[in-house]
Amino acid sequence: MTLSTVLAIALLGTQATALPGRDESAIVRRACPEYTSYASTPHAPYSGGPLNLPFQRPAEVCRTFSSPAVEKVIEDITSRLVDKDLAQLFRNAFPNTLDTTIRWHQNASTSAGAKGKRDGPQWSGVQTFIVTGDINAEWLRDSTNQLVNYQSLAAKDKSLYSLILGAISTQSEFVIQSPYCNAFQPPSASGVKPENSTQKDTVHPAYNPSFVFECKYELDSLAHFLQLGTEFYEKTGSTEFLTERWYKALQTVLKTIDAQSKPTFNDKNQFVTNQYTFQRQTNIGTETLSLSGVGNPLNGDTGLIRSAFRPSDDATILGFFIPPNAQMSVQLRKTAKVIKAAGGPADLAADLQERGTKLAKAIHEHAIVQHPKYGDVYAFEVDGYGSRILMDDANIPSLLSLPYLGFVDKSDPVYQNTRKMVTDKASNPYYLEGPQFHGIGGPHIGLEHAWPMSLLVQAMTSDDDDEILGNLNLVRNSSLLGLVHESINVTNIKDYTRPWFAWANSVFAETVLKVAAERPHLIFGEGAEPYIIS
Ligand SMILES: *[C@@H]1O[C@H](CO)[C@@H](O)[C@H](O)[C@H]1NC(C)=O
Ligand SMILES: *[C@@H]1O[C@H](CO)[C@@H](O)[C@H](O)[C@H]1NC(C)=O
Ligand SMILES: *[C@@H]1O[C@H](CO)[C@@H](O)[C@H](O)[C@H]1NC(C)=O
Ligand SMILES: *[C@@H]1O[C@H](CO)[C@@H](O)[C@H](O)[C@H]1NC(C)=O
Repeated sequence: MTLSTVLAIALLGTQATALPGRDESAIVRRACPEYTSYASTPHAPYSGGPLNLPFQRPAEVCRTFSSPAVEKVIEDITSRLVDKDLAQLFRNAFPNTLDTTIRWHQNASTSAGAKGKRDGPQWSGVQTFIVTGDINAEWLRDSTNQLVNYQSLAAKDKSLYSLILGAISTQSEFVIQSPYCNAFQPPSASGVKPENSTQKDTVHPAYNPSFVFECKYELDSLAHFLQLGTEFYEKTGSTEFLTERWYKALQTVLKTIDAQSKPTFNDKNQFVTNQYTFQRQTNIGTETLSLSGVGNPLNGDTGLIRSAFRPSDDATILGFFIPPNAQMSVQLRKTAKVIKAAGGPADLAADLQERGTKLAKAIHEHAIVQHPKYGDVYAFEVDGYGSRILMDDANIPSLLSLPYLGFVDKSDPVYQNTRKMVTDKASNPYYLEGPQFHGIGGPHIGLEHAWPMSLLVQAMTSDDDDEILGNLNLVRNSSLLGLVHESINVTNIKDYTRPWFAWANSVFAETVLKVAAERPHLIFGEGAEPYIIS
């Protein structure tokens, strides 16, 4: 739809519904096309490159947030990129979160939602609600990653600063109220209508479905909550987010991971039901937990933290799922640093530092295992009894992403072995290869679809120019609608899932920005200067 069509429809809407003093831009926005269908068809102007990729940004009036700093990066990068298709993909992908997913942002001192509810959510102050894309709900993991590219612009751009600060407050309320849940409804104060999930789930602890969209306990959700704050501090130097509510959310995270470090059998060998159980009425094995919603038994003397589900929202097989343990270990230590920098409680900072260090030690003790071909490797999942799962899944955190998470250096020999294992079809059952596409996939979409996100993580953790450029180009080739998809059929590059998946677009933009800063010759041409956002 063109801008003039939108305005024409909006004008019709104005005649029908406008009240004196009503915000006209709100009326215009109601006439905007639904983005899932908008993103499913190509729009002009086209790139003019060999793939002639379409321009998929919504009309300006339809964008959910705007930032001049973001527009400047788009201009800077796309004017330097030699490949017109890669440029078009960046032009669409980099602003995708701002353009399409900011459902609510406020900066208010009081709000209706906060009144009369002492322990309920407090939707006062700065708040931001960010949907994942085609589902009207916020995932803790996705939203942290959706904002990652704007963090370094927030020091200079006040509106982005406020946007991210608000996102930290909103995530804090989600964590305080329902720390075991992965996806959340629009806050009551936003006025955005919640849509109930259609799933039939039985979950303990119980949750309020008007607050929570889905309640799969994923350790990485909690690590991503911490990460949103530590990245904000690293990029802006600000500790303004360390509010009373944020500290309360942090305490909630610590209580939750303590409960999830408990063994299945106590020291008298008696079975103890885990505090969290989940059962879904489904015929898909990965969508529910075995043993009446408890999950497989875990030996608790490891120091590892259990995760019931993976970042793909699929159930773990063995609950000591290593990638989010690595991520949590890093984030606990980074959070300690932020609290110290802010002059916060020294005992808390010391506790976080110690927890992070112990968790790293537990991973080294219990998750490095012998592989017959590759030697010492990180296991994907273990159970503390000696069993292990050797594979990788596309979603972050993954084994492939361990250096990206800050847990190991790229050159770490165990990581290097692990990297070879997970990109080898003979060793990773979810490394999928076909005549048109390849990469790591996962059980979530199935055995014929690899995920662009895995190719991007592989590029970001590589030192090999050919691997980096080959992966970027393969993602470009599989993004024929000008946006990055969730997964691609390895025998038919035109068969994809999710036209509108904001997180994947953000990982693509992050990869391009990393290459622009570190290996500009790959995308800007021989002898080009690095481009670094500062
Ligand atoms: C919120 O609004 C107040 C009052 O206008 C302003 O002082 C403050 O900087 C704003 N906060 C953010 C994070 O934008
Ligand atoms: C959503 O679920 C809640 C609680 O189960 C129920 O009260 C409400 O009516 C439902 N809303 C819709 C739109 O189905
Ligand atoms: C991408 O597609 C082009 C044809 O448009 C082809 O020449 C190239 O080899 C492909 N690149 C990759 C990495 O698949
Ligand atoms: C993948 O594409 C092939 C070729 O078009 C098709 O036969 C197959 O059914 C597709 N797989 C899935 C899971 O859709």
